[in-house]
Order: sequence, then C-alpha cells, then structure tokens
Amino acid sequence: MAKLVFPKEFLWGAATASYQIEGAWNEDGKGESIWDRFAHTPGTIYENQNGDIACDHYHRYEEDVELMAEIGLKAYRFSISWPRIFPEGRGKLNPKGVYFYEKLIDKLLEKNIKPAITLYHWDLPQALEDKGGWLNRDTAKYFSEYANFMFYKFGDVVPIWITLNEPFVSAFLGYAWGWHAPGKKDMKGAFVAGHNMLLAHGLAVQAYRDGGYKGNIGITINVATVYPETNSEEDLKAAEKQDAFGNRWFIDPIFKRKYPEIIWRILEENNWSFVFPASDFDIISSPIDFMGINYYTRNIVAYDKNSHLGVKRVEGPNEHTDMGWEVYPDGLYDILIQLYRDYKIPIYITENGAAYNDTVEDGRIRDINRINYLKEHIKRAYFAIRDGVDLRGYFVWSLMDNFEWAHGYSKRFGIIYVDYNTQKRILKDSAYFYKKIIEENGVDG
Ligand code: NOJ
Repeated sequence: MAKLVFPKEFLWGAATASYQIEGAWNEDGKGESIWDRFAHTPGTIYENQNGDIACDHYHRYEEDVELMAEIGLKAYRFSISWPRIFPEGRGKLNPKGVYFYEKLIDKLLEKNIKPAITLYHWDLPQALEDKGGWLNRDTAKYFSEYANFMFYKFGDVVPIWITLNEPFVSAFLGYAWGWHAPGKKDMKGAFVAGHNMLLAHGLAVQAYRDGGYKGNIGITINVATVYPETNSEEDLKAAEKQDAFGNRWFIDPIFKRKYPEIIWRILEENNWSFVFPASDFDIISSPIDFMGINYYTRNIVAYDKNSHLGVKRVEGPNEHTDMGWEVYPDGLYDILIQLYRDYKIPIYITENGAAYNDTVEDGRIRDINRINYLKEHIKRAYFAIRDGVDLRGYFVWSLMDNFEWAHGYSKRFGIIYVDYNTQKRILKDSAYFYKKIIEENGVDG
C-alpha cells in the first residue's frame, strides 16, 4: 500500500473547548457562563449532568499537555473561557483566569506544540446574557474588547486565532431550538443573534489587524455536504436551500458581503427578516487568513412542503456513529473542493472525529471504529490537497472524552479515554494510530 504523504508543514492537531473540559466552573474568580446556568437548570442535559468538574483540565493541564506531547501533536486547539477573563463580560479583569491560560500556553510552547486559540466556543458570560446576550448588538463590541485583550496578551506567541466556533450552532441551537444555552426558542432572534456574532467576528478581526500581529486569524464554520435524495427539480432546490442555510449562511457575508438570497427570501416570507446597517458588511467581510471547518457527516435532503425551508433530511445508508451521524468520508472531500472552489482561501479542518461507545478491556481501548473513521477522513483530506485545495491542517475532535453539551458525558469523542470517577486518562488505540500518522506525516492509501 502506498503511503499518502502530506505537505511538510501540515499541521496535525487535536481540539477541545473550555466548558467541555476545564471544570473549575466557579474557581479563582471565574464568572458564570450561559452554559453554567443552562446545565444547572434541571431537564436541559442528559441525566442533569454539567461541566462543573468535566475533565478537571483546569487542574490537570500539565498532565494533559504531556499526553499531547506523547501523541506527537504539532498543534492544540483550545478555547478561552471569556468569563474566566472578564467575569462580568467586560470591565474588571480576572488576573487568575489570565494566568491559567498563560501557564497552559507556556507549557505547550515548551513542548513545541502550537497553540490555536478559539475565542468563543459558546460560553458567553451570563452577565452579558442578562443584558440580552447575542440579541444585543453591544455584545459584538464587548466581544471585540475581550478579543483585543487576548491579542495584546498572547498575540505574539499564539500563531492561530479563531474568533468563533460554529456560529450556526450557537445561533440556532441556542436561540431558535432551545437545545443549547441560553435555551431560547425564537427563530427571528436566532437570525439576529447570528448577525451579531458575525459582527463580533469582524470587529475582532479588525482589532487583530490594527494590532499588527504576525499570526493568522479566521473563523470556524460547521459544514455538512448536501446531496439531493433524487435528481428531481424539487429535491435539487431543497439541496440548494440546505446548502445556503446550513453551510453558507455564515460564510457568504464574510466573503461575498451578503446573506444567501434564497434564504433571505424565506426570512421575509416568515417575518423573520431584520434590519441592520449595510455598513455591517464592511466589518463582517474584513479579510481573514483561513477558514476553519468542522466536518462530521453529510446531509441528504428532499423537498418537504411542510417545512419553512421546504427541506427534510433523509437518513443515509452507511454506518452511523454513537451520535447517530452517518459516516461519510467522501463528504469531507466534496466539501473541501466546494469551499475552495467558491472562496479560494486556505482551510484548516478544525474538527473531525467520531463518538463511539468505548469500553476499557485490560486497560486498553480498542476503538477500531474510530481508527477507521479517522483514517478514511484523513485520506480524503489528502485527496483534496492532491486536487488543489490549500488545506493547512487537521485537528481531531477531540483530544479527550468530554462534556458533549446536551448529551453530557454519554458520548465519547476522545482519542484519550477519561474515567470520570478517577480522572484517569488512557490513550485509546486511536491515539497511537494518530501518533503514527503524525510521525510519518501520512496515512496508508
Ligand atoms: C462541534 C463542536 O464544536 C464541539 O464542541 C462538539 O463537541 C463537537 N462538534 C461534537 O459534537
């Protein structure tokens, strides 16, 4: 079998997010976040679990960085808990919170692991939610102030910055469907929240440029390749709409200075449209250095006259992960080709991975299914590079098992197993598999 060898500088990493791993939810001056509030509300999370302790990474970061080094990671993507830095969202700084990230970054640099920081991975300070959260346009300004402080503090040593993680999910799961914090159910509100997030992104990019930092800044978008169930005109239309809503809603404003028209019309028909200064697009479209994409599965869709969008999902025929998501590696190739064709921008895969119901046997986790998942997706990443996509790196989701939002700890995405009773970490077989890929800078074809 020929080895598929990646470009020399290709960045192999793993990813996590603050609320999902840190714990220490109210220690050392940290403020409450919307996820603290949401998870403490009975009935919101699987078995009423929460992130109070999570993987206790706040106290175990050194051990965790050692494990990253053992796997050979070249980069580590993590997020900053905004309320750890500014407990009230703005104003008074919490030096102990800053110090935690300083120690983490130092330890990463000592091990030669490049830090990639996500500034917002869903844990908005509750104090800002009390002022309207993302429905309040001022939140965008407060975000840029917080971002600006982080740049000032770490801009010289952190080479990769991601403003927002998956604004689609924060906006729609948080504000339209109520599955995520802050648990609101208002479709129009979700579009407004999403717009303010884009504005926040643009303002932060401007602050980064104004500071003259030498690293790269971008945004992470969740994408799922869309395929029509049949070639009927109606299904093709449904696919076009799903792609515009699910993939391009948060990308076109950045690169094309507009929202996809096919969806904007639906907003108007449903009285969901909202008003904003046209000049917002000047801010939102501030040039970025890369696009981060999170890819897990695809979407097969068909026409549905009963939905607002005119779209329904159809389940695919392949194996499904523990999340119920179809395994479809070709979708990663297809979306990379599509995005690079449409936006011509360097891309990082900032998340890709799978949840499986792992078991420990004789101290070992033989997660063959995850190994296969990673292998097939990494191969498609290679094919995309071969076919001209400027793909710069790949981050496994996740470094370790963690708090999977509304699913609590019931879904394990890690390449490191976490025993939540003892906080013991065990490298799964997939971690050793990934270590080999990194060592060889390639995968068997
Ligand atoms: C996307 C999110 O960024 C991450 O927080 C989540 O755990 C994974 N996908 C898996 O659902």
